Amino acid sequence: MNIHELFESTLGGEPTWVAHAPGRINLIGEHTDYHEGFVFPAAINHGVTVAARVSPSGISRVFSQGWGEWHGDKEGGKAVLPPHSWQAYALGTVELIGGVPPLEMVAMSDLPAGAGLSSSAATEVAFSLVFTAAKGMEMDPLARAKLCQRSENEVVGVPCGLMDQFASVFGQADHALHIDIRTTSITPTPIPAAWSLIALQSGEHHQLGDSGYPLWRRQSEEGARRLGVPFLRDATLAQVESLRGDDLVYRRCRHIVSENLRVSAFREALIAGDADRVGELMLASHASMRDDYEITTPRLDLMVEVGSNHPACIGIRMTGGGFGGACVALVWKAREAEFIRDFELELNLPGNAMPLRPSAGARVL
Ligand code: GLA
Repeated sequence: MNIHELFESTLGGEPTWVAHAPGRINLIGEHTDYHEGFVFPAAINHGVTVAARVSPSGISRVFSQGWGEWHGDKEGGKAVLPPHSWQAYALGTVELIGGVPPLEMVAMSDLPAGAGLSSSAATEVAFSLVFTAAKGMEMDPLARAKLCQRSENEVVGVPCGLMDQFASVFGQADHALHIDIRTTSITPTPIPAAWSLIALQSGEHHQLGDSGYPLWRRQSEEGARRLGVPFLRDATLAQVESLRGDDLVYRRCRHIVSENLRVSAFREALIAGDADRVGELMLASHASMRDDYEITTPRLDLMVEVGSNHPACIGIRMTGGGFGGACVALVWKAREAEFIRDFELELNLPGNAMPLRPSAGARVL
């Protein structure tokens, strides 16, 4: 069923506005964004699509495939959006945008939720696009990404960084995005044509709000405070050594500072098509998330071990916030089917591999 069919069958007739926002997969640069560092995500060919028209009854409502149904207050009264609910992700930007007419909407997603592919940012960005379209308002993409992040921070209640919303808004077909979060400069970097990008779902559901994300973020911020820098982007590995007395804070900071260095090295290796170096850096990133940041799970560690031992694998690591979710793998395209078959068989995770295409960013269709 496509979005027009879903609209017709639930609300009848045609929508006035349709928007799509992709999820993302991060190649490297994890938990660096809220320290104004570097990340390297790609928008993907899976995402959230929303269709809307002005509500003739004046009552806002949303029907979605899979998530359920929501009816807003009459008279346009302020909606009550339970924190961490899908409604908060979907409708959180309404108040921040302001002046949006009551809408009836349908939404559909082909992004598995909790799989570390940022269904949350895709939801925020797709809904925000129909809200601004319905209001007849232009919004530049950077402002949109920041507004969606603010909504996730304030309305949903998750203190996330900017990476996911950025990737969803600025995605480019066949490219990953090297992003400097501090300057917001983006360098689209092609993924070699002979390489395939695959998400490997662990089947362990992760939700940032309930995970250690807020606590881990505070631990790393404590490190920055002790080092006397505003963000760990400004710290060197040598400086981090002075934190050795407090093992936990030391390791949290060592992950972030070393991960920033790996992002830059990764970009050079990707441009050079240096598969060995790419693989090495992805494994080092995973080890750092496992041992220093402590956000992987035994299953994700096993997936990385099995995947990296396969001859078709270029690189593999956990991707996203952690505590479950997915791995990202780069494999030789000619051997993609073989890799997926062997990986799923060995780990007994049938159907968990999703071959992906780096895709264009969010848009009104
Ligand atoms: C989640 C957050 C991002 C980022 C990643 C970890 O996806 O939404 O802002 O911090 O985790 O890299």
